[in-house]
Formats: sequence, structure tokens, C-alpha cells
Amino acid sequence: MKVAVTAHARYVVSEIDPRLYGSFIEHLGRAVYTGIYEPGHATADENGMRRDVIDLVKALNMPIVRYPGGNFVSAYNWEDGIGPKQDRPTRLDLAWHTSESNQVGIHEFADWCDAANTEMMLAVNLGSRGLDEARNFLEYANHPGGSYWSDLRIKNGRKEPFDVKLWCLGNEMDGPWQIGHKTADEYGRLAHETAKALRSFDKSLELVVCGSSNAKMPTYPEWEATVLDHTYNEVDYISLHMYFDNHANDTANYLAMSEKLDDYIMSVAGVIDYIKAKKRSTKQVYISFDEWNVWYHSKEQDKKILEGNDGWPSAPPLLEDIYNFEDVLQVGLILNTFIRRSNVVKIACLAQLVNVIAPIMTVPNGPAWRQTTYYPFLFACVYGRGKALDLKVASPTYKSDVAGDVAYADIAGVHDEACGHVTFFAVNRHANETAELDIGLEGFGSASLVDHQVMTHADLRAVNSAEKPDNVVPKPGSGAAVREGRLSLTLPPYSYQMIRIKI
Ligand code: AHR
Repeated sequence: MKVAVTAHARYVVSEIDPRLYGSFIEHLGRAVYTGIYEPGHATADENGMRRDVIDLVKALNMPIVRYPGGNFVSAYNWEDGIGPKQDRPTRLDLAWHTSESNQVGIHEFADWCDAANTEMMLAVNLGSRGLDEARNFLEYANHPGGSYWSDLRIKNGRKEPFDVKLWCLGNEMDGPWQIGHKTADEYGRLAHETAKALRSFDKSLELVVCGSSNAKMPTYPEWEATVLDHTYNEVDYISLHMYFDNHANDTANYLAMSEKLDDYIMSVAGVIDYIKAKKRSTKQVYISFDEWNVWYHSKEQDKKILEGNDGWPSAPPLLEDIYNFEDVLQVGLILNTFIRRSNVVKIACLAQLVNVIAPIMTVPNGPAWRQTTYYPFLFACVYGRGKALDLKVASPTYKSDVAGDVAYADIAGVHDEACGHVTFFAVNRHANETAELDIGLEGFGSASLVDHQVMTHADLRAVNSAEKPDNVVPKPGSGAAVREGRLSLTLPPYSYQMIRIKI
């Protein structure tokens, strides 16, 4: 199959906000305990944080990590996680039916972020609590000193403020499963008043209001319109979430789901514009896609704990999806969609980072290892920087049930002027045909190949494990060439590729 692409240096979608490559750590399952934090581990640092995990996270060069939830945040008391560790209470976590020891709180997580070279994106509890808790948390985190909460932070060992700029106003408040679930009007009012209070402290904060938990919610997209009607002038982003599954065991449809993601983004962008026009506002609200991933492999095995049949275990294995090669293609497609829509999606968080639906897994007292999906995320995080190119792609298509006509070849491109590189990320959705890609490079000047990595596997269900961590890994590609302003390469059936050229 032939695929023709044109990339022009001046045809640009947007400057990519680096926070498009964020992630998420929730107090859920083994994300925190035996994930990032395991004091007895051979690699533990002076704070009990696993250095082997920190190294894998650092390699991603990820600018932000959302914390501490997720569903967990909607019944969380942030004050439980401060002060001497021996005095911190163990609480029942109602979201995941587990016990929370609070041995990790904002201080420990902030130190971990420093070590992992990333920054916190914090969520406040607007489920069981509200405005008062949020303003106290902000004062504790960001005020230099001389007030009740900031002095308490200093007493607890942190002189300098954490200086967190990005705050989520609750989590998935449209979801009936959420502790303290609200109607759009109830939540919109609360979010507005909370945003107003937080802004009274610091006008430069960036605030994220909850949109829909997914596009199948009965309240979508009315939820977005109502919530933004209440909050448009007080917030900067509306949050969206989406998880992908292949329960149906239908690869063609599974790989078409990124088109649904695209529809979801564009529909919410339309709602934002509608409210902007209604309010005669000159301000632009953007999308924070702060939870996305594949999530289905572990659903069955988690039921017992989530239904409460195991009591209140502490940090049990939960949501431990083991990702296969097919999921590599899906993650590549999702990231390509975000790059192409980087004019409206400014923040996105892979949910999550360690052990819980995560690219990084750990064995307690044992090694940390990379899942198959670590690699497309790594390539996008590290090389998907600069300007998103407005590519013109002519690819054969197939008919899918979930999204109509879908191109076999899915491509995104970025131009990083700082290092003079153009990078393409490409997925071939075809089961048995190779795609011959011919990319016209216009307005860039002369070009040469820098790096070419390919992921492909004879078995879509192939996975990595602690014992076989390198079963599905990228390999150097061959046969790509840049000649007379054209880049040619072949995409094997069911493959993911990253190719970089110097211009
Ligand atoms: O990421 C797992 C869960 O998915 C989060 O806690 C919640 O926000 C979403 O439903």
C-alpha cells in the first residue's frame, strides 16, 4: 500500500505544550507503596523511594505528574499525609476498598518529583470536602511563611514553598461512583467558588475544572456546557478522561478507537467555543486530557477486592494490566492524536505511571521493568517537542464499526527548531500489508537521517515481564532514506515507528 505525506515547515498546528506528556500517580494499589516507595528495597534512597523506578521515570523526561488521585482524592484528607510519619492515621480508602497508611503525603511526593525531575499537578478534594480544604491545602503548599498553614509546612521540614502552579478542582465529579458525586450545576457552582478563592490567593495559578469521565456518560456533553457556564472566566482547562479496551478481541475496531478520541476532543473544543462566545469572552480555555490509557486486562481479577470481598487490604495489586504489543499500537495512536490536536489539548496525563495501568512495573524486593507501552510513551515524551506539523496524509482506509473510515497509516510529525530535528511517529494499522511511505519535506532545506526505531512483533499478544523484560522492545529500523527533499520508509504490517531527521 502506498501512503503519501506532505510536511511543510510553515504548516503548523501549534507549539506543543511539554505538559502534553504528563503522567499520574494515585494512591491506588501498588502505585505508591512498593511502586515508587519501598523503604526496605535495595535501591531505596534516604526517603525510602526506589531509585530503580526513579531512573526509569527520569528517562521519560516527563514534565508533570498528577497526584494524589483519581477517585482516591474525593475522600482524601491531605492533612493525614503531613507531620511525623508515626503519627499519621491509617484510613479506609472508600474509592478502592483498601487501607491507606499515609506514609507518603505531599512532602514525600514532592521530594520524589525533585528526584525524578518532574513537577506536581495537584488535585483537591471536592467530593467529601470543598472550598475550605482546598484553600488551606494551597496555603500550605505555596505560601512562603508567616501564616498558620505555611508555618506548619515549615515546621514539618519544608522551608521553601512547593510552588505548585497546576491544580485540579476535584476528579470525575460527573461519575455516580465518585464519593461526593454532584450534578453539573452543583459542581459548577462549587468549582467556581473554589477557583475564585484559589485565585484570590494567586492569580497566576492554572486551574482545571472537571469535564466528563468519558464520552459515554449520559450527561456528556451537557455537563461540559453547564460546568463551563459556571466557571469559564475562572478556569484555564477542562479535564477529559478516556480509557481504551479490546474486550471484544477485535483489533481493527480497537485500533480505530483513537478516531473516537479525536471526535471527543473536537466536540469538547466546540463546547468551549460555544461558551466562550456566549460569555463574549476573549479568554481561551483548553483541554487537559489528564487520564488516558488502555485499561481492561486486569478488570476481572480486580473484582474481588473492589467488591470488598478481601476486607481492607493495604496496597494490594490492583489495575495491574499487563500490556501487549497490540497496546503499543494503541498508545502510539493516542499520542499521535494528542500531537495533531495540540492546539486545543495542552495537557495530557498517561494514567498511570507505576504498577497501576502503568508503563513501569515493580516486583516488591525485586526489579523494576518496562512494559511494552513504555516505549511509544518514551519516544513521544522525549522527541515529541516543538511545533506539531500540519501533515497532509493520503492513506488507504478501512471501514470500522466504531469510527467509520479509518486510515491504515496514522502519522504525526513535530519540528523541534531548538535542536533542528523533525520527528515522525507512525503506526500501520494493517494486519498484513506493508505501507510504503513517501514524505515530501517542504521548506526545511537539506535533511539527513538521525534515528529510526521500529516496534513490531509476530504476536499481537506478546508481553514483557520481570523475567523477560525485553520481549517487546524497539529495534533500529533499516531501509529509510532521505533524498532530494523526500523521506521514504516502509511500515511493516502492525508496526509502530519513530524516525528523526536533522534539517
Ligand atoms: O486511573 C484509574 C481511575 O480511573 C481514576 O482513579 C479515576 O479518575 C478514573 O475513573
